[in-house]
Amino acid sequence: MTQRFPEVVLAGDGFVLRPLAQLDVEDITAACNDAATLEWLPLPRPYRREHAEGFVDVIARDARESGRGVVFAIDVSGRLHGCIDLKATDWRAGTTEVGYWVAPWGRGQRLAGRATRLLAEWALRGQGLERVVLRAATGNLASQRSAESAGFVREGVARNAGLVHGGRVDRVVYSLVRDDLQWSVCRSPGRAGT
Ligand SMILES: CC(C)(COP(=O)(O)OP(=O)(O)OC[C@H]1O[C@@H](n2cnc3c(N)ncnc32)[C@H](O)[C@@H]1OP(=O)(O)O)[C@@H](O)C(=O)NCCC(=O)NCCS
Repeated sequence: MTQRFPEVVLAGDGFVLRPLAQLDVEDITAACNDAATLEWLPLPRPYRREHAEGFVDVIARDARESGRGVVFAIDVSGRLHGCIDLKATDWRAGTTEVGYWVAPWGRGQRLAGRATRLLAEWALRGQGLERVVLRAATGNLASQRSAESAGFVREGVARNAGLVHGGRVDRVVYSLVRDDLQWSVCRSPGRAGT
């Protein structure tokens, strides 16, 4: 039987991660036409309403049903503020990869980093996975800061590892592994006591 991620809602501090819905189509269309989003993600350009509908109805559903991943809306006060997903999941090896974008109206609150931490902890503690990888183009400083604020560890630079509209890019590779969570749990009381 195919191993899959369950369909859940995850509660964060001031936001929730929930499944995408048809109601999100307009916001997804607007967010995915934003210049910064299109600079770093190889999305269709222009990004039309039918692309967003296909994302909600086909791409997100297929990701979960195939077991390869799961897609969430980052929801603040009932409105989509971004999107975060797990992809390329290898259940046998215990690995998955996180990706995200935040809509222009949601930026500046570290939502990507906070959502990444919540989702990665869920994957490692709740779904039996061992390693979550995150890759950000070397020029994408906001994404690298988001990875770092989520507690991901920088491993190095994968050369010529991605394609964006502007051309090929090197990508910084980060990861969070299960032992990192044990370390932060063990370390907190020690810190508090010093
Ligand atoms: C990357 C992205 C998701 C971050 O969104 P966010 O969570 O709202 O991030 P914030 O605006 O709160 O910024 C997070 C950090 O990056 C820094 N930052 C933001 N824009 C920056 C820039 N252009 N250059 C350098 N640092 C920047 C912020 O100062 C903040 O740093 P801090 O944590 O030290 O305070 C968002 O910029 C985005 O959607 N970009 C386009 C899509 C994308 O790049 N996806 C990731 C592909 S790997």
